[in-house]
Amino acid sequence: MTDDLRRELALLREFGFTHLDLSGATSGARATSPASVPSDPNPAADAGEVARAPLGPDTAAILEAPSLDELAVIAAPCMRCRLAKSRTQVVFGAGNPNADLMFIGEAPGRDEDLQGEPFVGRAGQLLTDIIRAMKLTRQQVYIANVIKCRPPENRNPEPDELDACRPYIRQQVEMIRPKVIVTLGKFGLNSLLEQAYPISSVRGSWLEYRGVKVMPTYHPAYLLRTPSAKKDVWNDMKKVMAELEIQF
Ligand code: URA
Repeated sequence: MTDDLRRELALLREFGFTHLDLSGATSGARATSPASVPSDPNPAADAGEVARAPLGPDTAAILEAPSLDELAVIAAPCMRCRLAKSRTQVVFGAGNPNADLMFIGEAPGRDEDLQGEPFVGRAGQLLTDIIRAMKLTRQQVYIANVIKCRPPENRNPEPDELDACRPYIRQQVEMIRPKVIVTLGKFGLNSLLEQAYPISSVRGSWLEYRGVKVMPTYHPAYLLRTPSAKKDVWNDMKKVMAELEIQF
């Protein structure tokens, strides 16, 4: 076994794979991970009608914020959409404001809403493993969502909520100016780029947002339900590592 292969196997182990399925493999071994966990309860149904709260801050105040810290202060009492009614707190983003790598997900879930930090629940633990497998730490990268407040019952964000929140992520990207953005799942990708890409056809291909390279990949919550897709995400992350000149 070559050193490269040994190193890659060690990383795959770290990333949660437990054994290689070599049966009938003609185009390479297939890694599998522990028994799949039950799918997330993610009822799409709206939790009842919530009053719309089209109040401030206005878009200009967001786009003219002088720093990331001040943007977080502006965002904290945000009332730009109905999610202001259901959140515990705004989950603005976390990590290195000078990061080369930024991860952009969908919306806070229950754990994130309570702790005020993105990706700290089960999907977040998997994202942390992915970051570690890339030889980075959460403190070295920046993590944010396209929606800053938890949707009721973790339902999908509505188009008008995505529109209301979009100036925040745009301004976060402008201030951090990472070398690479990894979007996690279809809402992270399509809300950022204002497109309707099918995630399965664009994942793994480089796109661009305001001059920054974008690598779309699957959402970690999807990986919890579909562990066989981890190998695709790992291939995408290897492209990101190569772009950032991280040795593995
Ligand atoms: N899923 C997301 O998209 N973001 C989080 O912060 C947590 C789970």
